[in-house]
Amino acid sequence: MKKNAKNKNQATTKTGSQSATNGTSKENGTSRSKSNGSQGSLLEKFFTDELKDIYYAEQHLLKALPKMAQASTTEELEDAFNDHLKQTERHVKRLEKVFQLIGKKPEGKKCEAIEGLTKEAESIIKDTKEGTMTRDAALIIAAQKVEHYEIATYGGLVQLAITMGLHRAADILDKTLVEEEETDMILTEIAENDINLEAEHEGGYSWETESELVGTPAAYSM
Ligand SMILES: [Fe+2]
Repeated sequence: MKKNAKNKNQATTKTGSQSATNGTSKENGTSRSKSNGSQGSLLEKFFTDELKDIYYAEQHLLKALPKMAQASTTEELEDAFNDHLKQTERHVKRLEKVFQLIGKKPEGKKCEAIEGLTKEAESIIKDTKEGTMTRDAALIIAAQKVEHYEIATYGGLVQLAITMGLHRAADILDKTLVEEEETDMILTEIAENDINLEAEHEGGYSWETESELVGTPAAYSM
């Protein structure tokens, strides 16, 4: 089924017909990607759709991050979210530059993933007690899920841009990728250095009464 679908698509695109009529395999390699013009290949369409996806996601985060900052218990986490908010404003501008470089109008395309991930962050705010370290520990995990989504997207876009010969676009996207990775690391440090340990002191555990069970070798052999 997959092979048939692939062949069908190729047969109905400019790229497919080029491959069939255009001669050498070299022309169908990287040099063709570089000079691929007005018609656009399947890969160009996918790249553009991914740009639209992350453009939507970044704009969505401009609304979500202030809520996460406001809900944070510690100033440290609030500052981290606010710093990332400023970075996110730059990420939006960089994406607009990339759209410009490929001759397209910047536009977003609804990103279900980011909607789901930010909904999860909203649920965490509802489900955790205000002023607790547990809330911050949970918000960090929610934010890191977002970062990992962005890292995967930007990482893929950088590689695709390089593959298609869009080196300027790749450089711009890579700057954002580095900032997303740094944010992820900062969040890990905050969690591991302070917040998780303090959250650990916010009450006992239900399994403490079953310590014998937790401590048995069988519990670790799974
Ligand atoms: Fe971002």
